[in-house]
Parts: sequence; C-alpha cells; structure tokens
Amino acid sequence: MDDIKNLIRKNIFEFQPYLPGRPIEQVKKEQKLKRVFKLASNENSLGPSPRAIKAIARGLGEIHRYPDGGGFYLKEVLAKKLKLKMENIILGNGTDEIIEIIGKTFLNPQDEIIVSAHAFIRYYMAGKLMACKVKTIPMKNFTHNLLQMQKAINKKTKVIFIANPNNPTGTYVNKTEVMNFMKSIPGRIIVVFDEAYYEYMTRKDFPDSLSYIKNNRKVIVLRTFSKIYGLAGLRIGYGMSIKGIIEYMERIRPPFNTNSLSQIAARVSFSDKEQIKKGRKVVTEGRGYIEQALNKMGVEYVPSVANFMLIKVGKGNNVFKQLLKKGIIARAMDEYGLPEYIRITIGLSRENKLFIKKLREVLHQCF
Ligand SMILES: Cc1ncc(COP(=O)(O)O)c(C=O)c1O
Repeated sequence: MDDIKNLIRKNIFEFQPYLPGRPIEQVKKEQKLKRVFKLASNENSLGPSPRAIKAIARGLGEIHRYPDGGGFYLKEVLAKKLKLKMENIILGNGTDEIIEIIGKTFLNPQDEIIVSAHAFIRYYMAGKLMACKVKTIPMKNFTHNLLQMQKAINKKTKVIFIANPNNPTGTYVNKTEVMNFMKSIPGRIIVVFDEAYYEYMTRKDFPDSLSYIKNNRKVIVLRTFSKIYGLAGLRIGYGMSIKGIIEYMERIRPPFNTNSLSQIAARVSFSDKEQIKKGRKVVTEGRGYIEQALNKMGVEYVPSVANFMLIKVGKGNNVFKQLLKKGIIARAMDEYGLPEYIRITIGLSRENKLFIKKLREVLHQCF
C-alpha cells in the first residue's frame, strides 16, 4: 500500500475519518435491543415541520430536474426575514460544507487560523486541510476565551472561528464580550460566528452578529437547518457575510450542492413559527429535567444554552459503551480532548427519562 501512501497529500495523514453517531438500527441489532434512543448528534427528536414533509412530497415529482443552483426562493425568504440582500447569503450542504468552503477560499499554507481548544472540530479540520497553522486557545470555564484569542493574533492570522453557542460545551459568549473583541481585532481578519444552535438561544445578551455584517465588518455568520428545524438528513445550512466575501466563496461552491427537496423543506420550515416554538420548549423543559436529575445524583455538568449537555462521568468512553448496551446512543468526547465527559442531546421527555435511568444504572455499575 506504500504506493498509495506516496500519492496522498502530506497533511491528509493528520486526518481521521469523521466518527459519526452510531445508527439506531445497527445498535438495535448489535445489542439485541428493541428500543434504542439516539442522543448523539444534537438533532431535534421532534422531527421536521409537518408542513415541510408535505412540501417535500409535492416536490418529489420534480426530482428529475437539477435543483436551482442559486437557491433563489430560499435565499429570498432568508434575506427578507434577516434584512439582508440575497447577495449576502450562500447555501451549503450543511454548514459543514460552508466551513470547508471558507478554508478553501481564504487559507494559504502560510496563514494561521485561531480556534478554541474544545470548539467544534470542523474548523480545525478546515485549517489542516489547507495545510495552514491552527492555533488552539484553551477555554475558560468551558467558554471561549476571547481575550486570549485576541492575544494570539499575529500578522499571519486570517480567520478566527467562534461557535456561539459552542458545541460540545453548550456555552456562549455575550454581546459585550463580542463587542469588545470585535473592537480589539484588526479589521482585515475574518471572524466566523457559527450559530448552528441560534434558534435555541433565549438569552437577551446574545450578540447580534448580523449587525457586524450590516456594518461592513469581515464577519461570516453560519446557521443551519439541521438542528431546531429537524432537517439534518437533508443537509442544508447557510452562511451570511458582506457581498465581497460571499462572491469569492460562491466561486468554489459546487453548483448543485443543496438539493431541490432540501431547499423546499428549508423554505417552508423557516416560516413555521409554531414548530420552532415547540422545538425550543422541548429543549428548555428537557434541559431543566436533566439538570435537576443530575443535581440529585451529584453528577457534574456544564450548564448549557443549547440542545445538548456536557456531563462529567469519569471514564467517558466507558460510560458511552455501557449506555449503548442499554439502548442510549450518547457521544464520547475523547476526540474533543474531554475524556471524562459524555455529550448528550436533549430529547423528548421519554428519551430524557430513559437516559437518566440508564445513566444512574451505569454510574452505579462503574463506581
Ligand atoms: C457548532 C456546529 N456547527 C456546525 C455544525 C454542522 O451542522 P450541519 O448539519 O449544518 O453541517 C454542527 C453540527 O453538529 C455544529 O455543532
């Protein structure tokens, strides 16, 4: 196989394949279980908007056509609601793809990017893919340390990635912190605010990241239809920025990266206020329930503002495996440098209850 190895770009050796959350059917078969709950990938257990399902059914008759490569109707709806122009928006096959497009558009091997130590892993990978230096800044109380991120800037710094709220810690940086940060950094640097969990945010002091775009700063804001909108399987997300930045990103976006059904479903879901409200309620109540149960059990966790929680369980990978045997798919956190933790998605009431019951059993078993 050495001949293949010789063909590979050098920096590809630094990559491991993405570790997906385990599929429900596979776990059922393997563990001989009838009921398995997947709480591993921060999806919305409520499912998509019923209106989106109907719209997809209507769209099925047209799938022999290529999708609208420009995503006109979806962008039109987004632009109107967000008070932007369509030229400020790019669509992606999930925001994952947009993160990669950012890397490919802006990063040369001599450039540097800045990320937090326990931030969403795709930023690190986008940097590494382009063979540039990734500066990793330790977090403070599981929260981005914006001051240290600012101090890490040098002449080579090109992009700073900030997931807000952050996955997997569930914490956020507030309006004042972001304002001070944005004032303190050179205007040439691109700041990416990844707001995949934006719709779950209920705090009044959450930054208005779009205002930086409206004020012509080099900011890219990412949002997705994979979380509260329940469309993770269709792969669609969007990025917003100033026209000049979007224009260059559009040059390398694959022409039909978002499919016709995802565009239709996203458009309808975006306007289904009732479904969004329900999604938020499920998470607020579920989070309260899990927090209370963990408090009673004396188990530490990181307070979260998103639809998942980081829970300190000791040997995370061990607990993950034990939970799997009991029909709960959680997420071990070794790849995020947090081996003592698991991350759990907040699900429906019955899922949360079973998770707590099984976690109690596993922790008794382990200790
Ligand atoms: C912070 C963050 N950004 C981006 C993504 C990717 O989402 P998408 O499904 O839009 O690719 C995730 C998914 O878990 C995430 O947690």
